[in-house]
Amino acid sequence: MFDPAIDRAADDLKQGRLVIMPTETVYGLAADASNAAAVAAIYQAKGRPSFNPLIAHVADLDAARAIAVLDERAERLADAFWPGPLTIVAPIRDTSAVCDLARAGLDTVAVRVPAHPVALALIKAFGGAVAAPSANRSGRPSPTTLADAMDETGAFAAEGLQGGACQIGLESTVIGLVGQPLWLRAGGAPRERIETLIGPLGDAGADARRTPGRLVAHYAPDAPVRLNAKGPEPGEAYLSFGAGEETAPGRFSLSETGDLSQAAQRLFSLLRTADRLGPSAIAVAPIPEHDLGEAINDRLSRAAGKVG
Ligand code: TXA
Ligand code: MG
Repeated sequence: MFDPAIDRAADDLKQGRLVIMPTETVYGLAADASNAAAVAAIYQAKGRPSFNPLIAHVADLDAARAIAVLDERAERLADAFWPGPLTIVAPIRDTSAVCDLARAGLDTVAVRVPAHPVALALIKAFGGAVAAPSANRSGRPSPTTLADAMDETGAFAAEGLQGGACQIGLESTVIGLVGQPLWLRAGGAPRERIETLIGPLGDAGADARRTPGRLVAHYAPDAPVRLNAKGPEPGEAYLSFGAGEETAPGRFSLSETGDLSQAAQRLFSLLRTADRLGPSAIAVAPIPEHDLGEAINDRLSRAAGKVG
């Protein structure tokens, strides 16, 4: 398929420029993973500390095997989830494909095959690994539409590729497969399915070397966030979950039917919408902790400043 926008964006990547790339999880700010100068421009655009490494996006499992050492557990997860919202951290194999800066100097690499057709077309047209963090400025909610991504870091990108509203709406789940399997970040792939495939996951906890991302405050709108709210106080915006909630100005539903996938899909964009009203706080209804609820609650507690 010849698509001039994708061809142009692939050429931008080859020339060391940044591109806003849609994925099924969130929009990313993409660069050639092998090009240290281009990767440095990502850290600068995001205001991201350079100890927090980036995910290398590749087109398929073979390309992942070429850059990372994937063991039998990794193969099983890749088989079940790729293309899709799972990132695997594994020992690095090809240090030239994903430069030191993209890995924050670690001897491991985070790899993922995204499921969005525009992302896959871009990666294939480019022909190498694409480093892409979420396209927000560091510490802000991830963008789930091109317009939100352009607002955040568009000024630093040569091109923004349109991919519609992200289907999943939360970042990928990150699993560590260097030694004992570790749960590094809740995300679009639920824990229950992963543990069925490879057994119980350890918690990386406070080991900053393994979970550099946890040191960074995350996902915060400008307004304070109040969790487990039964309803809004005067002056607050409110995100409800489940049936029987009226919509009114300043009140938004994460899912009228109590569907966790729908709530994940809407979460970041409703946080942004509510934030634009300039409320005294954004109150959020309780969200059940199973399936995608774990990742939703992780993002909400970070937004509320309770973690990280
Ligand atoms: O869904 C996603 O994962 C999106 C889209 C664009 O693919 N990307 C994304 O990237 O969320 P970012 O940079 O915002 O988050 C990457 C996470 C961070 O928490 C980082 O610390 C962790 O992955 N990570 C990356 N490389 C790692 C490594 N070698 N060891 C441990 N954690 C790593
Ligand atoms: Mg991010």
